Amino acid sequence: MTTLLRGGLVVTEDGARTADLRTAQDGTIAAIGELEPVPGESVLDCTGMVLLPGAIDPHTHLDLECGPDLTTADDFATGSRSALAGGTTTVIDFATQFHGQTLAEGLAHWHAKADGHAVIDYAFHLAMTQWRPEFAAELADMVAAGVTSFKLYLAYRHSMMVEDDEVLAALTASAALGTTIGFHCENGRIIDALVQRERAAGHTGAYYHQHTHPAELERESLVRLGAIADLVDAQHYIVHLSSALTVPEVRAAQARGSRLVAETCPQYLVLDHTAYGGPGADAEGEARARAAVMSPPLRPAADHDTLWAGLADGTISFVGTDHCSFTPEQKAAAADFSTVPNGAPGLELRLALLHSHGVTTGRLTLAQLAAVTATNAARYFGLYPRKGVLAPGSDADIVVLDPTAQWTVTHDALHDAARHTPYAGMPLTGRVRDVFLRGQHLVRDGSLAPDLPAGRFVRCELPGREPLDFTPTPNRG
Ligand code: URP
Ligand code: ZN
Repeated sequence: MTTLLRGGLVVTEDGARTADLRTAQDGTIAAIGELEPVPGESVLDCTGMVLLPGAIDPHTHLDLECGPDLTTADDFATGSRSALAGGTTTVIDFATQFHGQTLAEGLAHWHAKADGHAVIDYAFHLAMTQWRPEFAAELADMVAAGVTSFKLYLAYRHSMMVEDDEVLAALTASAALGTTIGFHCENGRIIDALVQRERAAGHTGAYYHQHTHPAELERESLVRLGAIADLVDAQHYIVHLSSALTVPEVRAAQARGSRLVAETCPQYLVLDHTAYGGPGADAEGEARARAAVMSPPLRPAADHDTLWAGLADGTISFVGTDHCSFTPEQKAAAADFSTVPNGAPGLELRLALLHSHGVTTGRLTLAQLAAVTATNAARYFGLYPRKGVLAPGSDADIVVLDPTAQWTVTHDALHDAARHTPYAGMPLTGRVRDVFLRGQHLVRDGSLAPDLPAGRFVRCELPGREPLDFTPTPNRG
């Protein structure tokens, strides 16, 4: 059956205009324009609503084993339900190669986690917890398997951090193939030294996490990475850019022709370091601070404007959530700030947060919202035009968002398994009302359909070696 979505403000790459949108029998978009219902078609009134491309979250960690007794609270079943409810119809999760595994083993492990469990579509990056010379050849196998982006960590020394010469080797191999590598930009050696200092001073509380991950280390590692990447003209991107200090460095690298793009996350745009409270917190304050332990940490609110400006002018190309959820019990079990599981949930709220804090405040146009939540990631990671855009022939992944709905975040209203949200109590304007995945109407009036069909693995293609132009078009949306 086809559906006619009538009279919404449809956000396409040409801007936003009031139009009707028809889905096709095969799950793609048939047409956008002035359309009349045909017999047997289902009709959805979208007057006063905004129609956006199904959002793509390019940064999630679902069912990630972080240690022998520690796995993220959300797996592909819960995480993808949560994503769907919030208007995300595709995740690009970080499949992870653990020490000793081949890249193919890491990927097969992630397929087993996702296949038949996810209720939205999914693609993978391949995160490498080490670099071994034989990976240079294995990267090509990943491309053949539909994975064209990788990840390396410049943090988490002794578990995942790679050294600069390994970065050079990895980027050389990646550049030869035309793939890209995302980097967690911090400096694991200095973080370790700062942790030892805090411990020696008797500091144990989660408040001290932020002091061991200063913004200067993000800036320093991004500059160091850029110098290495430029030697081999390699595509690379910074994941979860957190600090105002780093934004001018990204801009400068892009201006000199470095093949760098940047991702930030909602938490760095709307939350701040006051979440960590003060030193000597009581039990409740410590639990609150632990809930917000993530790397990089939350920064001062004074950083927000620079990050928003970076998004609006195209310096930052997309917003991922870095959804990496742990329950309060998992957070509480750690001995001190340095061993609290890193990460927070956020998958379900990205569109609503960016609409509320970005569009209603005039920081982003609707066209920019679509670009940073869907189109740019689709282009960069090789999912475009199948995903990430409302256009005839593209998958009918559609979000119907009520731009005037006022609501306040509570975890009860969400679908993840974290049992807490760092956004609790935040008033928002704009809420996802309906969601279509490949033409299937899976969120109706804010509620998930009772029987959700299985999501599909989507291959990423090589996006090509020409630099992609993410300069936004502020006047069109
Ligand atoms: O704190 C975070 N970001 N946890 C997830 C792993 C990572 O560093 O991306
Ligand atoms: Zn992450």
